[in-house]
Amino acid sequence: MGYADTIRGLLAEQPFLLAPMAGVTDAAYRIMCRRRGARLAYSEMVSVAGLAYASNKTWRLVLPEDEEPQICVQLFGSKPDQFAGAVEAVAERVGSRLTLIDINMACPARKVITKGEGCALMETPELAEEIVRACVSRASVPVTVKMRTAFRQGERTAPELARRLEAAGAAAVAVHGRSAKQLYTGQADWTVIDDVARAVDIPVIGSGDVFSAADASRMLAETAAEGVFIARGTYGNPWVFDDALKLAREGDAPAERSFVERLDALREHLGLTHRYLPLMSRARTYATWYLKGMPHAASWRGSVVRCSTYEEFMALVDEIEADVAACQ
Ligand SMILES: Cc1cc2nc3c(=O)[nH]c(=O)nc-3n(C[C@H](O)[C@H](O)[C@H](O)COP(=O)(O)O)c2cc1C
Repeated sequence: MGYADTIRGLLAEQPFLLAPMAGVTDAAYRIMCRRRGARLAYSEMVSVAGLAYASNKTWRLVLPEDEEPQICVQLFGSKPDQFAGAVEAVAERVGSRLTLIDINMACPARKVITKGEGCALMETPELAEEIVRACVSRASVPVTVKMRTAFRQGERTAPELARRLEAAGAAAVAVHGRSAKQLYTGQADWTVIDDVARAVDIPVIGSGDVFSAADASRMLAETAAEGVFIARGTYGNPWVFDDALKLAREGDAPAERSFVERLDALREHLGLTHRYLPLMSRARTYATWYLKGMPHAASWRGSVVRCSTYEEFMALVDEIEADVAACQ
């Protein structure tokens, strides 16, 4: 069985994946989603430049924690030999829990594209092919690519590039339905995802504007993609993976989560961050996502940014819970 079929098999079991998000999808975040139905989860993107000699702090972005059965590692860069070295280093450090290596050709950040990395690779298809070949030659796991519709707004280069990268050995392609120039603005164009999926024989994962279980299930139904990335749709809603699967398979509408349930999830998330990172500054961002729609949410957001220790965050959640109870 080829690597494309391996990925096809994984997507057939659970087509909804936790998308890579720099600064967000750390071990604590991934574990929250895994406990609620996510099977495949990605590391935050990591630079291939010098990964082989990187510090433990950089490796923390890549290595799965004990509770994690697998990890997909996303690499970015522009030099084929650095990719080849990084693939070997990742394979050695991660071991049997490495499901796949993904090459980032989607990141639109200025400091990345000005170095010819990320989405800029969509403008240099020969180099993109060379990078895929370099990774495939060293990897003993599938090598995949994440791209956008095109680098420039109004163009649609993804189907042709996907065909070339398939020929170079990519086992799957993910497509975010926006151009690099669009960043995260405007609406994602799912027709490009569909075009790519019809242009290649390898499985395609769609991405863009999947904000709920209903969106995720709809992308699967409306396009030829076999998998769907959930990115911002996981904010404050780690249940979205189980919900999307139940909706797509059985037509069951997602349950409403009570404020208490959401506050309990926030406590769990804080506990994981405290245990695994420990980088409590990240909690300031995700805590506000769990509080959305709660009574006095705006004023609680003000309190959240004043917290810095695990104990302060946990005490604040107790306070919010008491307030919610008083309001009901
Ligand atoms: C905060 C943030 C960080 C992201 N980091 C990455 C990344 O490291 N690698 C990547 O391929 N995509 C990254 N993305 C893009 C997402 O994976 C996804 O393709 C994009 O958000 C579109 O999906 P959405 O509209 O459903 O959020 C990031 C998105 C966000 C919001």
